[in-house]
Amino acid sequence: MSTPLIAALDVGSTKVCCFIASEDSDGSVRVAGIGHQVAHGMRQGAVVDMEELEHSVRAAMEAAEAMAGERVRAVVVNVSGGQPNSANVRIEATLNGHPVDDSDLRRILEHGRAHHDVPDRVQLHAIPVDYTIDGNEGIRDPRGMFGDRLGVAIHVISAATGPVRNLSTVINRCHLDVAARVASPYAAGLACLVEDEKELGVTCIDMGGGTTSIAVFLGGQVVHTDVLPVGGHHVTSDVARGLSTSVALAERLKTLYGSAIPSAGDDREMLKVPLVGESEDGASNQVPRSLLNQIIQPRLEETLELVRAHLEQGGFDKLAGRRVVLTGGASQMQGVRDLAGLVLDKQVRLGRPVGFHGLADATGGPAFSTCAGLVRYAIAHPPAPQRGRKAAGGYESDGGKASGFGRIGQWLKKNF
Ligand SMILES: Nc1ncnc2c1ncn2[C@@H]1O[C@H](COP(=O)(O)OP(=O)(O)OP(=O)(O)O)[C@@H](O)[C@H]1O
Ligand SMILES: [Mg+2]
Repeated sequence: MSTPLIAALDVGSTKVCCFIASEDSDGSVRVAGIGHQVAHGMRQGAVVDMEELEHSVRAAMEAAEAMAGERVRAVVVNVSGGQPNSANVRIEATLNGHPVDDSDLRRILEHGRAHHDVPDRVQLHAIPVDYTIDGNEGIRDPRGMFGDRLGVAIHVISAATGPVRNLSTVINRCHLDVAARVASPYAAGLACLVEDEKELGVTCIDMGGGTTSIAVFLGGQVVHTDVLPVGGHHVTSDVARGLSTSVALAERLKTLYGSAIPSAGDDREMLKVPLVGESEDGASNQVPRSLLNQIIQPRLEETLELVRAHLEQGGFDKLAGRRVVLTGGASQMQGVRDLAGLVLDKQVRLGRPVGFHGLADATGGPAFSTCAGLVRYAIAHPPAPQRGRKAAGGYESDGGKASGFGRIGQWLKKNF
C-alpha cells in the first residue's frame, strides 16, 4: 500500500524541479512523475523576476504531471531566499501536577513560537529539540510524565517575509497552493543523511548554483541551518572572467575538465577556449588545464572556509562531530570531497537521495537532494489524525502564517 501522492517543488537558483511521489509500505519512496527546467528569474536562492520564474515553474510542473498522469493542486516547496537561518529558544511552563499530554506540548510550542516572533520574518519551522521536566534534560517524549515545570528547547528556522511571499505569489500564479514550506538545507539533509549520522552528529552541505547551504543534525534532529549566498555559479563566472570566455562555455569547461585539486598532468593537457563574443570555431586561446583549476580551487576553498568559519562561530564545529556530507549539483566537481576534507578537517562523503525508486541516474543525483527531501518532509508530517506516538517531537508545522498545523493534512486529502 502506498501513501497519497505528494508533490514537491524545489525552486533552485539554476533549476526548478518537481517530484510527484508516494511512500511504499517498506518506507522507500516511489517517484511517479519528475519535471525539471532551467530556473529563470532566480538569483542566489531568491526570486528576481516573477514572470520568468512562473514560466519555469509551470514547465517543470507540467512535465511532472504529464509523467505521473495526475493534476497537482498544492506543493511542498523549499525556501532558500530571505536568509533562512536558525535560532534556539528555551521556554518553560508550569504543569499544575498533571501528567504531560499533547495539549501541553502544543501550548508550550505555540508559546515558544510567539516568544520568537521576529518582525518581518516568517517562521518556517519550530522544532522541539529537547524537553526538560523540573530541569532534568534529555527527555525526547515527555508525554505521560509528572513534574512541576515543563521546559523545551525549540529550534526555530525563519526567513525574511518578502522573499518568501514573492515565491508563494509565483506558485499561486501557477494555480498551485503552498502546502508547506521547508528550509532548503533542512530538506537536503532529510534526503541524503542516514539515521545514524543524524543521531551521532553530521553537517550536510548542499553546494548549489547560487547558494551553499548548511544543516547540522544531532540527536536525530536538525539543530542548525544557514544559507550562504555563494555557489557553483560563482565558480563559473570566475572561469568565464579568468579565461575571457562566455558563461556557457565556462560552465562546460568547468564541468568537463574542472577539478578542485590539482593533479600531475594538468600542465600538459591543453584546452581550447573560444574567446567571448566569438563562435566556437572563431578566435580561441589554448590554455593548460592547470590554469582552469587554478581559477576553480581558490573559489571553492573560499566557500568551504566560509562554511568552516560559520560553523566555528556558532559552536557547531565541535558539536556536529567529524562527519560531513556534501550534496547539491556543485558537489559533483572532481576533487571537491578531498578539498572539503582538508579545509573542514572532517570525514567527508558525497550524498544523494537515499531510498528513492523511479529516479534515473541523472535525477537521482546530488542536485536532486532538496527535492527528494521535500518529499521526505511531507511523509514525516502526515495529517494530524495519522500522527502516532512515533511522531513525538514531530509537532513541527510549516509554521508560516499562511498555513497552520492541519493544513498539510487537508492538503494530502484534497490534493489529488
Ligand atoms: N559535474 C559538475 N561539476 C561541477 N559542478 C557541477 C557539475 N554539475 C553541476 N554543477 C554545478 O552545480 C550547480 C547547480 O547545482 P544545483 O542544481 O544543486 O543548484 P540549484 O539547486 O539550482 O541552486 P541553489 O540550491 O543554489 O538555489 C551549477 O553551478 C553547476 O555548475
Ligand atoms: Mg538547490
